[in-house]
Amino acid sequence: MNILLTGGAGYIATHTCLELLAAGHEAIVVDNYVNSCPEAVRRVEELSGRSVPVYEADVSDRAAMDRIFEENRIDAVIHFAGLKAVGESVRQPLRYYRNNLDTTLTLCETMAAHGVKRLVFSSSATVYGVPDEVPLREDMFCKGCTNPYGWTKYMIEKILGSVCEADPEWSVVLLRYFNPIGAHESGRIGEDPAGIPNNLMPFITQVAAGRLDHLNVFGNDYDTPDGTGVRDYIHVVDLGRGHVCACDYAAKHTGCEIINLGTGVGYSVLDIVRTFERVNGIRIPCEIAPRRPGDVAACYADPSKAKRLLGWEATHTLEDMCRDAWHWQSMNPMGYRT
Ligand code: UD1
Repeated sequence: MNILLTGGAGYIATHTCLELLAAGHEAIVVDNYVNSCPEAVRRVEELSGRSVPVYEADVSDRAAMDRIFEENRIDAVIHFAGLKAVGESVRQPLRYYRNNLDTTLTLCETMAAHGVKRLVFSSSATVYGVPDEVPLREDMFCKGCTNPYGWTKYMIEKILGSVCEADPEWSVVLLRYFNPIGAHESGRIGEDPAGIPNNLMPFITQVAAGRLDHLNVFGNDYDTPDGTGVRDYIHVVDLGRGHVCACDYAAKHTGCEIINLGTGVGYSVLDIVRTFERVNGIRIPCEIAPRRPGDVAACYADPSKAKRLLGWEATHTLEDMCRDAWHWQSMNPMGYRT
């Protein structure tokens, strides 16, 4: 299939792009580089030995989107484009709602106008809000999100569900990601957050690199085995392969399916730190800090629906995730700017 990746220069998108190319698909990228850079796609081309057409455009620009659909025979779209920083979304809610909803609406209108009705969407476990119980299943009621970023994901899920109800020819897969970490084993592509990282693994790798002096562990009094927060960390290459399976599924089915992409195993902050230290032989100085507002004690997936519907399950271990995250960071101390 010819697959358009919106936000295709980003962290999860570049890993997905490589897996799509390896599976024999063609990829086309559109990105406005608001939080990414052209070098990331260049490295995907280098690793795959294939060329990837790239359009520098905003997905909310209808004329630019029309041109992409006119110049390419697109069979399906994976919609990664979106603002994703939780704290920033609390400070700039209108920017988040405007950007994430506008891009999705324009994308769907463009797709409909060009008769393209297969879509895979980057959703997030954040839509589950504060869970009553874990593991999280797709049919559980989502009581509400803790920040505007999460609400945009929640609202987009609803919009895409309505699109499928109105037109039974549409096929949409809503992928709820848990916590993607790690990098391609080559060390050529990986996560490159702007500024000081918000998420745990990029923070740890920057401490390991000496760019930051210690990790603050946000709370050690949660109701978890060691008191620190428990999450379902998933290797980004496994996540990329999940998208390939979701595209294959969307090509054979219609309607809207919600699918968790996680491992089903929860690890604590201290599990991650200790595994990182052991695998890479680097000490990570830690200090216990207050809980971070909006955090939940434990969040991990029931991944059985992905296995049943997509035939997909994660294969990488926590050791792989810690090794590959550090390999990327140590080979690219300043990310793509080196
Ligand atoms: C967060 C977002 C989620 C988003 C995801 C992207 C919230 C509530 N959730 O998930 O919507 O999809 O990022 O990957 O913000 N931690 C520390 N010290 C740090 C950083 C994190 O102790 O410096 C802890 C956190 O308290 C948490 C765990 O590490 O227990 C993971 O945090 P993080 O990587 O930020 O992901 P989430 O909060 O799970």
